[in-house]
Amino acid sequence: MTIQFSLASATPETEATPCVVVGVYEDKMLTSAAARVDEASGGAIKRLIDSGDVSGKLGSSHVLFGLGGIAAARVLVVGLGEQKKLDSARFQRASTEAARVLKGLPIASATSFLAETDVPGRDLHWKLRTAALATDHAAYRYTATFKPKDKPRGDSFGAIAFVADATAQPALDQAAAIAAGVRQARELGNLPPNICNPAYIAAQAQKYAEATDGVSCEVLEREQMQELGMGSLLGVAQGSANPPKLVVLRWNGGGNVRPYALVGKGITFDTGGISLKPGPGMEEMKFDMCGAAGMFGAFVAATTLKLPLNLVCVLAAVENMPDGNSYRPGDVLTSMSGLTIEVLNTDAEGRLILCDALTYTQKFNPQVIIDAATLTGACVIALGKHASGLMSKDDELAEQLLAAGNASLDRAWRLPLWDDYQGQLDSGFADVANIGGKNGGAITAACFLSRFTEGQRWAHLDVAGTAWDEGRKGLATGRPVPLLVQYLIDRC
Ligand code: BES
Ligand code: MN
Ligand code: ZN
Repeated sequence: MTIQFSLASATPETEATPCVVVGVYEDKMLTSAAARVDEASGGAIKRLIDSGDVSGKLGSSHVLFGLGGIAAARVLVVGLGEQKKLDSARFQRASTEAARVLKGLPIASATSFLAETDVPGRDLHWKLRTAALATDHAAYRYTATFKPKDKPRGDSFGAIAFVADATAQPALDQAAAIAAGVRQARELGNLPPNICNPAYIAAQAQKYAEATDGVSCEVLEREQMQELGMGSLLGVAQGSANPPKLVVLRWNGGGNVRPYALVGKGITFDTGGISLKPGPGMEEMKFDMCGAAGMFGAFVAATTLKLPLNLVCVLAAVENMPDGNSYRPGDVLTSMSGLTIEVLNTDAEGRLILCDALTYTQKFNPQVIIDAATLTGACVIALGKHASGLMSKDDELAEQLLAAGNASLDRAWRLPLWDDYQGQLDSGFADVANIGGKNGGAITAACFLSRFTEGQRWAHLDVAGTAWDEGRKGLATGRPVPLLVQYLIDRC
């Protein structure tokens, strides 16, 4: 259930709500809301701190039920850690912890005072948006494919009010739109590959366009892609019984100006093809469409916000399968750009579908092109699961994207895209090879894409490490939706 956000003007001791949320620091310091609760309850919080029951440690929390002198049924005391260490990421972590507890309580709503906490360098708008998004993120539950009677019990928690003055409403509107985009991306990512295939992604995009004023959607079928000469994308697609779809979503919110283009890798399942991946962990390759899901989610958020700019969102939805019809190592494909590509590994398929999507996108004369893709395991080795890889030859665009990542805590880190690496893509049989050897794999993948974006203001986000959480129950994260939406908001 999507969490409803609202603003409240309230005092923590008199607010008649199922739960008020207040923060305490590790150094026995109370936030002002916690101090008011403490005073009204005859020192209940300080006693719990003195007894050691409440530590204030970051990530800790306690539900106090039925405190005397307090109108709310419960007080959720959230640890903020040491006051002098409180920063943006720690504030987000405490907000997430609060939401995790709230979602487990038998309550429908709560009132949070966390946005009153001082976070160095951040204003009220940022704190509200961050706390609201963290709440929706923690409250998300995947239920689509459980037997109805076994579906995890529907959570009752569905609304949170933040105490702040009414001028802060735009922050919550922004948070609600971003949360909707993040949810869309997460749900598409989490769905299994037998449901979320290329046709499903196309149908979701069409459904969104039909339901949303000012949004149009066109889906290119295999035959149209053949006419356009997309031999590279179609080479990857030819081994699958699920036909490829090239989804084009458009938003005209900015009048007669060049659009921003968002291009996403939508491999709905990546077996590796004839260069078959090892069995263990292969099920995670259902997430290989998270670049497309992230671009779709960003598009949903931007259009929900009715941003005054033009957008074109191109999703390349393809399945990479081994089959009698599959493309093979050694094949030479002719891309829409005319460049020929020697396939040395059919598991380097993301760049092969993206190159044609990137060429196609240029017909919209975009002022900027950004692509997102779960492109390389090498990026996960380089940056781990905390930062997306950012590669661009355009320093200004790169700086803007890094700044958007820092502001939204959906961070990226830049890797070089120097021409020094381009030689790794030399082929004896075609204009370019589809792999660049074992060194710098995230960079050589981006170098490959750069061959198809010459003269464009273009940036590439490798979200292989950030788009989903690891482990058997790991869920799609919705990244890089927050980064992209922040980038677009900053352009308005
Ligand atoms: N989808 C994978 C990249 C990937 C791997 C993402 C693991 C997340 C986790 C991509 O299509 C792929 O297979 N890339 C190969 C490229 C190689 C053959 C040059 C890789 O990273 O091993
Ligand atoms: Mn692959
Ligand atoms: Zn892949």
